[in-house]
Amino acid sequence: MTTAPSHPSLLPTLPGSAYVDPAAHAAECEHILEASWFCAVASTDLPDAGSFRTVTVGRESVLLTRSRDRAVRAFFNVCRHRGARLCTEESGTVRRSFQCPYHAWTYGLDGTLVSAPHLSSMPGLDRTAHGLRTIAVREWLGYVWICLADDPPSFETTVEDVVAERLGSREAVHAYGIDRLALGRRITYDVAANWKLVVENFMECYHCATIHPELTEVLPEFAGGYAAQTNVGQGAVMGTEGFTVDGSAGLGRLPGVTEEQDRRYFAVTIAPQVFVNLVPDHVIVHRMFPLAADRTVVECDWLVDPEVVAAGVDVSRSVELFDRVNRQDFDACERCQHGMSSRVYADGGVLVPTEHHIGAFHHWVRSMLGRPEELAEGLVA
Ligand code: FES
Ligand code: FE
Repeated sequence: MTTAPSHPSLLPTLPGSAYVDPAAHAAECEHILEASWFCAVASTDLPDAGSFRTVTVGRESVLLTRSRDRAVRAFFNVCRHRGARLCTEESGTVRRSFQCPYHAWTYGLDGTLVSAPHLSSMPGLDRTAHGLRTIAVREWLGYVWICLADDPPSFETTVEDVVAERLGSREAVHAYGIDRLALGRRITYDVAANWKLVVENFMECYHCATIHPELTEVLPEFAGGYAAQTNVGQGAVMGTEGFTVDGSAGLGRLPGVTEEQDRRYFAVTIAPQVFVNLVPDHVIVHRMFPLAADRTVVECDWLVDPEVVAAGVDVSRSVELFDRVNRQDFDACERCQHGMSSRVYADGGVLVPTEHHIGAFHHWVRSMLGRPEELAEGLVA
């Protein structure tokens, strides 16, 4: 039972155990990470037929590959014979098939079982039925989104509408031309913290004045601590020439970005594991891979106009700003992770009024976990 906050303006957080208990993490894997649309890889990570990547989604390893028809397919990375992990590499390219290293069952790029030793001793074996188990796939905004659920939720309402609402409209999303942008830089962070701490940190700006000196220079209203949740549809106004580590001019406005979007910053959280930042000259996409109760790998992509990459323009001042922000944020998350198992945090902490929207995230987590009794007891906002 959570102790009631001592002041009417404070809301309770989740208890510390929600961030450290392996059983809590397993439940979140089952009911959240494996049940939601999960942004797995960039479409450009699978450039050719036979390109593949493996990723961890909840408790499962997933194999993503591009077929000869150019469609991306996703499979449980489990051999249908005796369950060996089929592909053990993180990325690469195969010519036309994946062969299990155990008894050499071989699967085509569409997942069909194409050959197996002694197949002639099994006449009439249904090669599709014994093919790899498929996973729902959508390609959107230049990324491959997958859902491990048998009956995935609506992609439109749980992903597309969320982004459109934050940016003001569906047209506003497409103004950035995200699916035609090129990868300017990718940095992977291995964060010793629970994924929910990373989400909660990303959602609030109460910490901005304390830990983000460079960011508050570029976005002065962030120093007030309100911006992240109050700028829905309008974005935050930039106080410098560019979204760069020293405020200097950036890379030049993306072709579709409108006057209203120019010199503005938009931040979108797509639960459970994607953050998108949009500024006039580039887009930053974070994908989180929760690997354990206390470990989250974050892949962060800086997407820029393809001409910027083709011309070899130096993007480091643009990248350095948010790279510093990321490191500052993840340090804070790791500092919190230490406290989550303390006996004094067993009942959780409190949310101040400018963080109340984090209560909505906690409510979402609890509702996804199917714990209405905790909602009814008023343990969360
Ligand atoms: Fe894969 Fe036997 S477990 S071929
Ligand atoms: Fe931050």
